[in-house]
Amino acid sequence: MPVITNIDDLKRIYERRVPRMFYDYAESGSWTEQTFRDNSADFHDIRLRQKVAVDMSGRSTASQMIGQDVAMPVALAPVGLTGMQHADGEMKAAKAALDFGVPFTLSTMSINSIEDVAEHTCAPFWFQLYTMKDEDYVRRLIQRAKDANCSALVITLDLQILGQRHKDLKNGLSAPPKLTAKTIANLMTKWAWGIEMLGAKRREFGNIVGHVQGISDASSLGAWTAEQFDPSLDWKKIEKLMEQWGGKVILKGILDPEDAKMAAKLGADAIVVSNHGGRQLDGALSSIRMLPRIMDAVAGDVEVHLDSGIRSGQDVLKALALGAKGTYIGRAFVYGLGAMGQKGVTTALEVIQKELDTTMALCGERNVADLGPHNLLVPQDFCGRWQE
Ligand code: GLV
Repeated sequence: MPVITNIDDLKRIYERRVPRMFYDYAESGSWTEQTFRDNSADFHDIRLRQKVAVDMSGRSTASQMIGQDVAMPVALAPVGLTGMQHADGEMKAAKAALDFGVPFTLSTMSINSIEDVAEHTCAPFWFQLYTMKDEDYVRRLIQRAKDANCSALVITLDLQILGQRHKDLKNGLSAPPKLTAKTIANLMTKWAWGIEMLGAKRREFGNIVGHVQGISDASSLGAWTAEQFDPSLDWKKIEKLMEQWGGKVILKGILDPEDAKMAAKLGADAIVVSNHGGRQLDGALSSIRMLPRIMDAVAGDVEVHLDSGIRSGQDVLKALALGAKGTYIGRAFVYGLGAMGQKGVTTALEVIQKELDTTMALCGERNVADLGPHNLLVPQDFCGRWQE
């Protein structure tokens, strides 16, 4: 086994091990993938201020997200089809996250169901909600998350319809994969993945297959979103969902200061500054570039989190120093999961924590709570010279 020192190492093993269709699903952005690329590239535009002769002993990455203790402010983001990246993927990723001491967020479009993950873990996890036209189904889904003792509902606001991802369309993405000549040829080179998958608890969308009627192709994410997702989701409906849930709510997919203000007004416990990993509106600005403007709009009114583009502990540090209280990794943990199962997710978290801790020390900080703009060198026009 090669020595793993960064997230890219995991990505290389992941690419070799997992069927192309699922690798491409994780690695795609929508249309030209400009936003997908910018999300990571924009982190590199921000530089760090070196600080010396500071006592670096007794450092800690521990913090809180929505009042919950975390070993570091890095949650696992909800990622659809995670159980296709590795057999029982959501159960394994949840176990790795909860053992490490960071939140795990289960996607509505997961392979393992809410109940599978609850049975497999002893600490509460977060549940991400996509709203469907079938209101009764949504009510039951929320109840299932309550019964599973989920400690936060993450409502995604930026995917009522699916951004076009060319690779998924060309690959005929489905869970489980349809056996065409192209997929069979590729699966024959991924035998270890296939053997493990034969023993998996589930190979289809565990939260919805059997719970929702009237779908033309139950294995297709595209068909589910087009036929079932609720395109009329608006602030009024969001407020109703928050009432139905009655617990902690995180509103995910905010990229506009006015939307952030609205989410704060509704009483969300946190918002996630996000463009869905560049998978929805291609051409939108990166999350890290929008963060300062959103902080200006709502700092102090609502806890702000950020996802999209984080591949290292240095990226985490930059988001925190610009004001985020928490961050999420999606692809970074999926690479680990696809490469090495549960152990790979733990490795991804360890890599990120080590990078965060070392960078913090070299910036002269001992606690994540003390990070701030004073640790960064941000280009003068970082927030853009766009006309309002
Ligand atoms: C679903 O959440 C996706 O981005 O594919």
